[in-house]
Amino acid sequence: MQVSFGKLEWPKMGALVLGVLDKRKLLPFGIELDENLDGLLLASMRSSQFTGKPHQTLVIFSPKGRIVLYGLGDGTNINEKWCEDAGGNINALLSNSGEKTVSVIFENHPGSENGIELRAAHFGFGALLRTYRFDKYKTKIKDDQKPTLKTMKILVDFHQKSKKHFIELEAVAEGVFLTRDLVTEPPNVLFPASFAKNLEKLKQDGIKVEVLNEKDMAKLGMGALLGVGQGSSRESKLVVMRWNGGKRGEKPIAFVGKGVCFDTGGISLKPASGMEDMKWDMGGAAVVSGLMKALAGRKAKANVVGVVGLVENMPDGEAQRPGDVVTSMSGQTIEIINTDAEGRLVLADALWYTNQRFKPKFMINLATLTGAMLVALGQVNCGYFSNDDTLSGQLDAAASVVGEGVWRMPLGEEYNKMMDSDIADMKNAGPRFGGSITAACFLERFVEKCPWSHMDIAGMAWSSKDAPTVPKGGTGWGVRTLNQLVKADYELK
Ligand code: BES
Ligand code: MN
Ligand code: ZN
Repeated sequence: MQVSFGKLEWPKMGALVLGVLDKRKLLPFGIELDENLDGLLLASMRSSQFTGKPHQTLVIFSPKGRIVLYGLGDGTNINEKWCEDAGGNINALLSNSGEKTVSVIFENHPGSENGIELRAAHFGFGALLRTYRFDKYKTKIKDDQKPTLKTMKILVDFHQKSKKHFIELEAVAEGVFLTRDLVTEPPNVLFPASFAKNLEKLKQDGIKVEVLNEKDMAKLGMGALLGVGQGSSRESKLVVMRWNGGKRGEKPIAFVGKGVCFDTGGISLKPASGMEDMKWDMGGAAVVSGLMKALAGRKAKANVVGVVGLVENMPDGEAQRPGDVVTSMSGQTIEIINTDAEGRLVLADALWYTNQRFKPKFMINLATLTGAMLVALGQVNCGYFSNDDTLSGQLDAAASVVGEGVWRMPLGEEYNKMMDSDIADMKNAGPRFGGSITAACFLERFVEKCPWSHMDIAGMAWSSKDAPTVPKGGTGWGVRTLNQLVKADYELK
Protein backbone atom coordinates (compact mmCIF):
# COMPACT_ATOMS: atom_id res chain seq x y z
CA MET A 1 0.00 0.00 0.00
CA GLN A 2 1.14 3.47 -0.94
CA VAL A 3 0.74 6.24 1.62
CA SER A 4 0.62 9.75 0.23
CA PHE A 5 -0.04 13.19 1.65
CA GLY A 6 -2.04 15.99 0.06
CA LYS A 7 -3.81 19.28 0.68
CA LEU A 8 -6.76 19.29 3.02
CA GLU A 9 -9.56 19.47 0.43
CA TRP A 10 -12.36 17.21 -0.82
CA PRO A 11 -10.91 14.18 -2.61
CA LYS A 12 -12.40 12.96 -5.90
CA MET A 13 -12.90 9.28 -5.26
CA GLY A 14 -12.65 6.28 -2.99
CA ALA A 15 -13.53 5.66 0.64
CA LEU A 16 -13.38 8.51 3.11
CA VAL A 17 -12.36 8.65 6.76
CA LEU A 18 -13.61 11.42 9.03
CA GLY A 19 -12.88 12.03 12.71
CA VAL A 20 -15.79 12.54 15.09
CA LEU A 21 -15.53 13.92 18.62
CA ASP A 22 -17.41 12.64 21.65
CA LYS A 23 -21.20 13.07 21.65
CA ARG A 24 -21.32 12.56 17.89
CA LYS A 25 -19.76 15.95 17.21
CA LEU A 26 -18.74 16.26 13.57
CA LEU A 27 -15.80 18.47 12.51
CA PRO A 28 -16.18 21.06 9.69
CA PHE A 29 -15.67 18.62 6.78
CA GLY A 30 -18.11 16.22 8.40
CA ILE A 31 -20.71 18.93 8.87
CA GLU A 32 -20.45 19.95 5.22
CA LEU A 33 -20.70 16.35 4.00
CA ASP A 34 -23.64 15.65 6.29
CA GLU A 35 -25.48 18.61 4.75
CA ASN A 36 -24.75 17.35 1.22
CA LEU A 37 -26.05 13.92 2.16
CA ASP A 38 -29.26 15.23 3.77
CA GLY A 39 -28.20 14.36 7.30
CA LEU A 40 -27.10 10.76 6.58
CA LEU A 41 -24.08 10.95 8.89
CA LEU A 42 -25.98 12.23 11.92
CA ALA A 43 -28.85 9.85 11.28
CA SER A 44 -26.48 6.87 10.98
CA MET A 45 -24.75 7.78 14.23
CA ARG A 46 -28.05 8.17 16.03
CA SER A 47 -29.35 4.82 14.89
CA SER A 48 -26.12 3.08 16.05
CA GLN A 49 -24.00 2.78 19.18
CA PHE A 50 -21.43 5.11 17.67
CA THR A 51 -20.89 8.17 19.83
CA GLY A 52 -17.30 9.07 18.90
CA LYS A 53 -15.52 7.22 21.71
CA PRO A 54 -11.76 6.82 21.09
CA HIS A 55 -11.09 4.36 18.22
CA GLN A 56 -14.80 3.59 17.75
CA THR A 57 -15.72 3.17 14.09
CA LEU A 58 -18.88 3.39 12.05
CA VAL A 59 -19.01 2.45 8.38
CA ILE A 60 -21.69 4.17 6.29
CA PHE A 61 -22.46 3.35 2.67
CA SER A 62 -23.59 6.54 0.99
CA PRO A 63 -24.36 7.35 -2.65
CA LYS A 64 -20.93 9.06 -2.68
CA GLY A 65 -19.15 5.94 -1.48
CA ARG A 66 -18.02 4.33 1.75
CA ILE A 67 -17.59 6.68 4.69
CA VAL A 68 -15.81 5.65 7.88
CA LEU A 69 -16.45 7.72 10.98
CA TYR A 70 -13.61 7.41 13.45
CA GLY A 71 -14.07 8.23 17.15
CA LEU A 72 -11.66 10.78 18.60
CA GLY A 73 -13.09 10.93 22.12
CA ASP A 74 -12.71 14.42 23.58
CA GLY A 75 -9.53 14.74 21.51
CA THR A 76 -7.20 15.23 24.47
CA ASN A 77 -5.48 11.84 24.19
CA ILE A 78 -4.56 12.19 20.57
CA ASN A 79 -0.79 12.03 20.21
CA GLU A 80 1.49 10.38 17.65
CA LYS A 81 1.13 6.89 19.11
CA TRP A 82 -2.66 7.25 19.19
CA CYS A 83 -2.61 8.19 15.52
CA GLU A 84 -0.45 5.18 14.65
CA ASP A 85 -3.05 2.93 16.25
CA ALA A 86 -5.81 4.72 14.36
CA GLY A 87 -3.95 4.31 11.07
CA GLY A 88 -3.44 0.63 11.80
CA ASN A 89 -7.10 0.15 12.65
CA ILE A 90 -8.23 1.89 9.47
CA ASN A 91 -5.92 -0.30 7.44
CA ALA A 92 -7.31 -3.44 9.08
CA LEU A 93 -10.87 -2.25 8.45
CA LEU A 94 -10.38 -1.49 4.76
CA SER A 95 -7.42 -3.54 3.54
CA ASN A 96 -9.50 -6.29 1.95
CA SER A 97 -12.81 -4.46 1.86
CA GLY A 98 -12.86 -4.04 -1.91
CA GLU A 99 -11.84 -0.38 -1.67
CA LYS A 100 -8.75 0.57 -3.66
CA THR A 101 -8.25 4.07 -2.32
CA VAL A 102 -9.02 5.72 0.96
CA SER A 103 -8.72 9.41 1.76
CA VAL A 104 -8.30 10.43 5.35
CA ILE A 105 -9.53 13.90 6.23
CA PHE A 106 -6.99 14.92 8.86
CA GLU A 107 -8.67 17.95 10.37
CA ASN A 108 -7.59 19.91 13.36
CA HIS A 109 -9.94 19.92 16.28
CA PRO A 110 -9.98 22.43 19.11
CA GLY A 111 -7.07 22.02 21.52
CA SER A 112 -4.77 20.08 19.19
CA GLU A 113 -3.41 22.60 16.71
CA ASN A 114 0.29 21.90 17.24
CA GLY A 115 2.07 19.18 15.30
CA ILE A 116 -0.84 17.92 13.23
CA GLU A 117 1.57 17.27 10.34
CA LEU A 118 3.58 14.94 12.59
CA ARG A 119 0.49 13.13 13.77
CA ALA A 120 -0.58 12.68 10.15
CA ALA A 121 2.80 11.12 9.32
CA HIS A 122 2.44 8.74 12.25
CA PHE A 123 -1.08 7.85 11.13
CA GLY A 124 0.42 6.75 7.82
CA PHE A 125 3.20 4.90 9.62
CA GLY A 126 0.70 2.96 11.74
CA ALA A 127 -1.30 2.07 8.64
CA LEU A 128 1.84 0.91 6.87
CA LEU A 129 2.99 -1.22 9.82
CA ARG A 130 -0.38 -2.98 9.79
CA THR A 131 -0.14 -3.87 6.08
CA TYR A 132 2.55 -6.45 6.81
CA ARG A 133 1.77 -9.94 5.50
CA PHE A 134 3.78 -13.12 5.23
CA ASP A 135 2.01 -15.30 2.70
CA LYS A 136 4.85 -16.46 0.45
CA TYR A 137 4.20 -20.11 1.36
CA LYS A 138 0.44 -19.96 0.77
CA THR A 139 -0.49 -21.31 -2.63
CA LYS A 140 -4.24 -20.79 -2.21
CA ILE A 141 -5.44 -17.39 -1.07
CA LYS A 142 -9.18 -16.75 -1.32
CA ASP A 143 -10.17 -13.63 -3.20
CA ASP A 144 -11.75 -11.98 -0.18
CA GLN A 145 -8.51 -12.45 1.73
CA LYS A 146 -6.43 -10.55 -0.77
CA PRO A 147 -5.67 -6.91 0.03
CA THR A 148 -7.50 -4.52 -2.26
CA LEU A 149 -6.41 -1.25 -0.72
CA LYS A 150 -3.62 0.23 -2.79
CA THR A 151 -3.51 3.88 -1.77
CA MET A 152 -4.06 5.84 1.40
CA LYS A 153 -4.17 9.61 0.93
CA ILE A 154 -3.83 11.61 4.08
CA LEU A 155 -5.19 15.11 3.57
CA VAL A 156 -3.74 17.59 5.99
CA ASP A 157 -2.40 21.12 6.36
CA PHE A 158 1.38 21.39 5.86
CA HIS A 159 1.28 18.08 3.99
CA GLN A 160 4.84 18.54 2.63
CA LYS A 161 6.11 18.43 6.20
CA SER A 162 4.13 15.26 6.83
CA LYS A 163 5.63 13.68 3.75
CA LYS A 164 9.16 14.56 4.80
CA HIS A 165 8.67 13.05 8.22
CA PHE A 166 6.97 10.01 6.76
CA ILE A 167 9.95 9.18 4.55
CA GLU A 168 12.00 8.60 7.70
CA LEU A 169 9.27 6.50 9.28
CA GLU A 170 9.01 4.45 6.09
CA ALA A 171 12.67 3.49 6.52
CA VAL A 172 11.91 2.37 10.06
CA ALA A 173 8.99 0.30 8.78
CA GLU A 174 11.35 -1.38 6.28
CA GLY A 175 13.52 -2.37 9.23
CA VAL A 176 10.54 -3.68 11.20
CA PHE A 177 9.43 -5.69 8.15
CA LEU A 178 12.88 -7.27 7.77
CA THR A 179 12.76 -8.32 11.43
CA ARG A 180 9.27 -9.78 11.00
CA ASP A 181 10.32 -11.65 7.84
CA LEU A 182 13.37 -13.20 9.50
CA VAL A 183 11.41 -14.21 12.59
CA THR A 184 8.63 -15.79 10.54
CA GLU A 185 10.71 -17.74 8.02
CA PRO A 186 10.64 -21.47 8.77
CA PRO A 187 13.79 -23.02 10.23
CA ASN A 188 14.42 -25.26 7.22
CA VAL A 189 14.72 -22.09 5.14
CA LEU A 190 16.39 -19.77 7.65
CA PHE A 191 19.44 -21.36 9.25
CA PRO A 192 22.78 -19.73 10.09
CA ALA A 193 24.22 -19.71 6.58
CA SER A 194 21.01 -18.56 4.86
CA PHE A 195 20.47 -15.94 7.57
CA ALA A 196 23.99 -14.64 6.91
CA LYS A 197 23.29 -14.60 3.14
CA ASN A 198 20.19 -12.56 3.81
CA LEU A 199 22.23 -10.05 5.77
CA GLU A 200 24.76 -9.73 2.96
CA LYS A 201 21.95 -8.06 1.01
CA LEU A 202 22.22 -5.16 3.46
CA LYS A 203 25.35 -4.13 1.58
CA GLN A 204 22.93 -2.55 -0.90
CA ASP A 205 21.80 -0.25 1.92
CA GLY A 206 25.37 0.91 2.53
CA ILE A 207 26.04 -1.42 5.46
CA LYS A 208 29.37 -3.23 5.67
CA VAL A 209 28.77 -6.92 6.28
CA GLU A 210 31.34 -9.51 7.39
CA VAL A 211 30.56 -13.18 7.93
CA LEU A 212 32.73 -15.29 10.22
CA ASN A 213 32.54 -19.05 9.78
CA GLU A 214 33.35 -21.81 12.30
CA LYS A 215 37.02 -21.80 11.40
CA ASP A 216 37.28 -18.07 12.01
CA MET A 217 35.48 -18.41 15.32
CA ALA A 218 37.61 -21.34 16.42
CA LYS A 219 40.70 -19.18 15.80
CA LEU A 220 39.21 -16.52 18.04
CA GLY A 221 38.54 -19.12 20.74
CA MET A 222 34.74 -18.86 20.74
CA GLY A 223 34.24 -22.19 22.49
CA ALA A 224 30.96 -21.15 24.08
CA LEU A 225 29.18 -20.24 20.83
CA LEU A 226 30.69 -23.13 18.89
CA GLY A 227 29.68 -25.66 21.55
CA VAL A 228 26.02 -24.79 20.97
CA GLY A 229 26.22 -25.37 17.22
CA GLN A 230 28.30 -28.52 17.32
CA GLY A 231 25.32 -30.89 17.27
CA SER A 232 23.92 -29.29 14.13
CA SER A 233 24.75 -30.19 10.55
CA ARG A 234 24.39 -26.48 9.74
CA GLU A 235 27.52 -24.40 10.17
CA SER A 236 27.42 -21.66 12.82
CA LYS A 237 28.09 -18.08 11.70
CA LEU A 238 28.77 -14.74 13.29
CA VAL A 239 27.78 -11.70 11.26
CA VAL A 240 29.16 -8.22 11.85
CA MET A 241 27.25 -5.32 10.32
CA ARG A 242 28.57 -1.77 10.37
CA TRP A 243 26.81 1.48 9.54
CA ASN A 244 29.15 4.46 9.64
CA GLY A 245 26.91 7.49 9.39
CA GLY A 246 28.61 9.41 12.17
CA LYS A 247 31.92 11.21 12.60
CA ARG A 248 34.92 9.41 11.17
CA GLY A 249 36.84 7.57 13.84
CA GLU A 250 34.23 8.12 16.53
CA LYS A 251 33.57 5.10 18.74
CA PRO A 252 30.48 3.17 17.67
CA ILE A 253 27.50 2.01 19.64
CA ALA A 254 26.80 -1.71 19.43
CA PHE A 255 23.81 -4.03 19.27
CA VAL A 256 24.24 -7.76 19.72
CA GLY A 257 21.62 -10.41 18.98
CA LYS A 258 20.95 -14.02 19.92
CA GLY A 259 20.37 -15.89 16.68
CA VAL A 260 19.42 -19.44 17.57
CA CYS A 261 17.76 -20.36 14.28
CA PHE A 262 16.14 -23.34 15.95
CA ASP A 263 16.29 -24.34 19.60
CA THR A 264 15.41 -27.97 20.25
CA GLY A 265 17.06 -27.67 23.65
CA GLY A 266 19.84 -29.96 22.44
CA ILE A 267 20.50 -33.07 24.55
CA SER A 268 18.40 -31.40 27.29
CA LEU A 269 15.60 -31.78 24.76
CA LYS A 270 12.50 -29.60 24.96
CA PRO A 271 9.00 -31.15 25.06
CA ALA A 272 7.35 -31.56 21.64
CA SER A 273 4.36 -29.35 22.32
CA GLY A 274 5.01 -25.84 21.07
CA MET A 275 8.54 -26.60 19.97
CA GLU A 276 7.77 -25.03 16.58
CA ASP A 277 7.87 -21.66 18.38
CA MET A 278 11.59 -22.11 18.74
CA LYS A 279 12.02 -21.09 15.10
CA TRP A 280 11.82 -17.53 16.45
CA ASP A 281 14.62 -18.06 18.92
CA MET A 282 16.66 -15.90 16.56
CA GLY A 283 14.41 -12.95 17.37
CA GLY A 284 17.21 -10.93 18.98
CA ALA A 285 19.38 -11.27 15.89
CA ALA A 286 16.38 -10.29 13.75
CA VAL A 287 15.84 -7.08 15.73
CA VAL A 288 19.51 -6.15 15.39
CA SER A 289 19.30 -6.79 11.63
CA GLY A 290 16.08 -4.79 11.23
CA LEU A 291 17.51 -1.95 13.30
CA MET A 292 20.61 -1.77 11.09
CA LYS A 293 18.37 -1.61 8.01
CA ALA A 294 16.25 1.12 9.55
CA LEU A 295 19.29 3.20 10.54
CA ALA A 296 20.89 2.86 7.13
CA GLY A 297 17.56 3.51 5.40
CA ARG A 298 17.14 6.84 7.12
CA LYS A 299 20.87 7.63 6.94
CA ALA A 300 21.29 7.92 10.69
CA LYS A 301 24.20 10.15 11.64
CA ALA A 302 25.81 7.64 13.96
CA ASN A 303 28.41 4.88 13.89
CA VAL A 304 26.64 1.66 14.70
CA VAL A 305 27.77 -1.94 14.91
CA GLY A 306 25.38 -4.89 14.80
CA VAL A 307 26.66 -8.35 15.70
CA VAL A 308 24.58 -11.52 15.51
CA GLY A 309 25.58 -14.99 16.66
CA LEU A 310 23.84 -17.56 14.45
CA VAL A 311 23.59 -21.20 15.48
CA GLU A 312 21.20 -24.12 15.55
CA ASN A 313 20.78 -26.04 18.83
CA MET A 314 20.29 -29.70 17.92
CA PRO A 315 20.69 -33.08 19.64
CA ASP A 316 23.09 -35.36 17.81
CA GLY A 317 26.03 -37.71 18.34
CA GLU A 318 28.28 -34.67 18.10
CA ALA A 319 26.13 -32.51 20.35
CA GLN A 320 27.34 -30.87 23.52
CA ARG A 321 26.50 -32.80 26.71
CA PRO A 322 25.34 -31.63 30.12
CA GLY A 323 28.52 -31.83 32.15
CA ASP A 324 30.81 -30.58 29.37
CA VAL A 325 33.13 -27.68 30.16
CA VAL A 326 33.78 -25.15 27.40
CA THR A 327 36.21 -22.24 27.23
CA SER A 328 34.78 -18.94 26.03
CA MET A 329 36.68 -16.34 24.01
CA SER A 330 37.16 -14.38 27.24
CA GLY A 331 39.14 -17.32 28.64
CA GLN A 332 36.49 -17.95 31.29
CA THR A 333 35.33 -21.55 31.49
CA ILE A 334 31.69 -22.64 31.60
CA GLU A 335 30.23 -25.89 32.89
CA ILE A 336 27.23 -26.89 30.79
CA ILE A 337 24.45 -27.89 33.18
CA ASN A 338 21.62 -27.67 30.67
CA THR A 339 22.14 -27.58 26.91
CA ASP A 340 18.84 -25.71 26.62
CA ALA A 341 20.43 -22.65 28.26
CA GLU A 342 22.24 -22.02 24.98
CA GLY A 343 21.43 -18.39 24.17
CA ARG A 344 23.69 -17.05 26.90
CA LEU A 345 26.56 -19.16 25.53
CA VAL A 346 26.15 -17.61 22.11
CA LEU A 347 25.94 -14.12 23.58
CA ALA A 348 28.91 -14.64 25.89
CA ASP A 349 31.25 -14.87 22.91
CA ALA A 350 29.38 -12.36 20.76
CA LEU A 351 29.45 -9.73 23.53
CA TRP A 352 33.09 -10.35 24.37
CA TYR A 353 34.08 -10.15 20.71
CA THR A 354 32.12 -6.95 20.16
CA ASN A 355 33.60 -5.27 23.20
CA GLN A 356 37.19 -6.29 22.40
CA ARG A 357 37.05 -5.40 18.75
CA PHE A 358 35.05 -2.18 18.76
CA LYS A 359 35.37 -0.76 22.30
CA PRO A 360 31.83 0.60 21.83
CA LYS A 361 30.22 3.43 23.81
CA PHE A 362 27.65 0.89 24.91
CA MET A 363 26.39 -2.56 24.07
CA ILE A 364 22.74 -3.52 24.03
CA ASN A 365 21.98 -7.17 23.47
CA LEU A 366 18.60 -8.61 22.56
CA ALA A 367 17.61 -12.22 23.10
CA THR A 368 14.66 -14.53 23.48
CA LEU A 369 16.61 -15.76 26.45
CA THR A 370 14.34 -17.19 29.13
CA GLY A 371 10.86 -18.63 29.51
CA ALA A 372 11.01 -17.13 33.02
CA MET A 373 10.73 -13.67 31.50
CA LEU A 374 7.37 -14.60 30.02
CA VAL A 375 6.29 -15.80 33.45
CA ALA A 376 7.44 -12.54 35.05
CA LEU A 377 6.16 -9.87 32.66
CA GLY A 378 3.93 -11.64 30.16
CA GLN A 379 3.78 -10.18 26.67
CA VAL A 380 3.24 -6.58 27.74
CA ASN A 381 6.67 -5.35 28.80
CA CYS A 382 10.15 -6.38 27.81
CA GLY A 383 12.25 -7.00 30.88
CA TYR A 384 15.71 -5.54 30.60
CA PHE A 385 18.81 -5.40 32.76
CA SER A 386 21.54 -2.80 32.82
CA ASN A 387 24.80 -2.01 34.54
CA ASP A 388 24.42 1.68 33.66
CA ASP A 389 21.75 4.11 34.87
CA THR A 390 22.28 6.57 32.02
CA LEU A 391 21.75 3.91 29.38
CA SER A 392 18.78 2.58 31.31
CA GLY A 393 17.21 6.04 31.41
CA GLN A 394 17.73 6.44 27.67
CA LEU A 395 16.10 3.10 27.02
CA ASP A 396 13.09 3.93 29.20
CA ALA A 397 12.66 7.27 27.45
CA ALA A 398 12.98 5.85 23.95
CA ALA A 399 10.52 3.04 24.63
CA SER A 400 8.01 5.46 26.06
CA VAL A 401 8.24 7.76 23.01
CA VAL A 402 7.39 4.94 20.60
CA GLY A 403 4.92 3.26 22.94
CA GLU A 404 6.74 -0.05 23.41
CA GLY A 405 6.79 -1.24 27.03
CA VAL A 406 10.03 -1.93 28.91
CA TRP A 407 10.66 -2.70 32.56
CA ARG A 408 14.03 -2.69 34.31
CA MET A 409 14.91 -5.82 36.26
CA PRO A 410 17.55 -6.18 38.97
CA LEU A 411 21.10 -7.50 38.84
CA GLY A 412 23.18 -8.18 41.94
CA GLU A 413 25.87 -10.23 43.57
CA GLU A 414 23.45 -12.52 45.37
CA TYR A 415 22.02 -13.61 42.04
CA ASN A 416 25.37 -13.60 40.31
CA LYS A 417 26.96 -16.05 42.70
CA MET A 418 24.23 -18.58 41.92
CA MET A 419 26.01 -19.05 38.59
CA ASP A 420 29.31 -20.16 40.16
CA SER A 421 30.32 -23.71 39.28
CA ASP A 422 32.17 -26.24 41.42
CA ILE A 423 34.55 -27.23 38.65
CA ALA A 424 34.65 -24.25 36.24
CA ASP A 425 34.41 -20.45 36.44
CA MET A 426 30.65 -20.56 36.06
CA LYS A 427 27.79 -22.77 35.03
CA ASN A 428 25.30 -22.02 32.30
CA ALA A 429 22.13 -22.69 34.33
CA GLY A 430 21.23 -21.83 37.89
CA PRO A 431 18.14 -22.45 40.03
CA ARG A 432 14.69 -22.23 38.46
CA PHE A 433 13.62 -19.28 40.60
CA GLY A 434 14.93 -15.97 39.30
CA GLY A 435 15.91 -17.64 36.04
CA SER A 436 15.85 -14.47 33.93
CA ILE A 437 17.99 -12.61 36.44
CA THR A 438 20.68 -15.25 36.81
CA ALA A 439 20.82 -15.48 33.00
CA ALA A 440 21.48 -11.72 32.91
CA CYS A 441 24.18 -12.08 35.58
CA PHE A 442 25.83 -14.71 33.40
CA LEU A 443 25.92 -12.27 30.47
CA GLU A 444 27.28 -9.49 32.68
CA ARG A 445 30.40 -11.58 33.21
CA PHE A 446 31.24 -10.98 29.53
CA VAL A 447 30.84 -7.20 29.25
CA GLU A 448 33.55 -5.97 31.62
CA LYS A 449 33.11 -2.21 32.27
CA CYS A 450 31.25 -1.39 29.05
CA PRO A 451 27.85 0.27 29.65
CA TRP A 452 25.44 -2.50 28.74
CA SER A 453 21.82 -3.55 28.65
CA HIS A 454 20.36 -6.97 28.09
CA MET A 455 16.80 -7.02 26.73
CA ASP A 456 15.08 -10.37 27.22
CA ILE A 457 12.49 -10.28 24.42
CA ALA A 458 11.17 -13.83 24.98
CA GLY A 459 7.67 -12.40 25.48
CA MET A 460 7.86 -9.75 22.77
CA ALA A 461 9.16 -11.33 19.56
CA TRP A 462 5.98 -13.17 18.63
CA SER A 463 2.30 -12.45 19.13
CA SER A 464 -0.68 -14.71 18.63
CA LYS A 465 -3.17 -11.89 18.23
CA ASP A 466 -3.50 -8.80 16.09
CA ALA A 467 -2.74 -5.39 17.56
CA PRO A 468 -3.46 -2.08 15.79
CA THR A 469 -0.01 -1.70 14.21
CA VAL A 470 1.22 -5.28 14.64
CA PRO A 471 -0.49 -8.14 12.83
CA LYS A 472 -0.18 -11.46 14.66
CA GLY A 473 3.09 -13.33 14.14
CA GLY A 474 6.56 -11.83 14.26
CA THR A 475 6.22 -8.40 15.83
CA GLY A 476 9.46 -6.60 15.08
CA TRP A 477 9.27 -5.37 18.66
CA GLY A 478 12.33 -3.34 19.65
CA VAL A 479 13.38 -1.93 16.29
CA ARG A 480 11.46 1.27 16.93
CA THR A 481 12.63 1.72 20.51
CA LEU A 482 16.28 1.28 19.59
CA ASN A 483 15.94 3.46 16.51
CA GLN A 484 14.48 6.15 18.78
CA LEU A 485 17.32 5.71 21.29
CA VAL A 486 19.90 6.22 18.56
CA LYS A 487 18.01 9.22 17.20
CA ALA A 488 17.50 10.91 20.56
CA ASP A 489 20.88 10.32 22.21
CA TYR A 490 23.58 9.23 19.75
CA GLU A 491 23.17 11.13 16.49
CA LEU A 492 24.96 14.25 15.36
CA LYS A 493 22.35 16.97 15.41
N1 BES B 1 14.86 -19.97 23.83
C1 BES B 1 14.62 -20.38 25.14
C2 BES B 1 13.77 -19.37 25.94
C3 BES B 1 12.37 -19.15 25.46
C4 BES B 1 11.34 -19.95 25.91
C5 BES B 1 12.09 -18.12 24.60
C6 BES B 1 10.05 -19.71 25.49
C7 BES B 1 10.79 -17.89 24.17
C8 BES B 1 9.78 -18.69 24.62
C9 BES B 1 15.94 -20.56 25.87
O1 BES B 1 17.00 -21.00 25.10
C10 BES B 1 15.73 -21.60 26.92
O2 BES B 1 15.47 -22.71 26.58
N2 BES B 1 15.85 -21.20 28.19
C11 BES B 1 15.66 -22.07 29.29
C12 BES B 1 16.77 -21.83 30.27
C13 BES B 1 16.86 -22.84 31.37
C14 BES B 1 17.24 -24.19 30.80
C15 BES B 1 17.89 -22.38 32.38
C16 BES B 1 14.29 -21.77 29.89
O3 BES B 1 13.87 -20.61 29.87
O4 BES B 1 13.64 -22.70 30.34
MN1 MN C 1 17.09 -23.11 24.93
ZN1 ZN D 1 16.94 -20.55 23.13
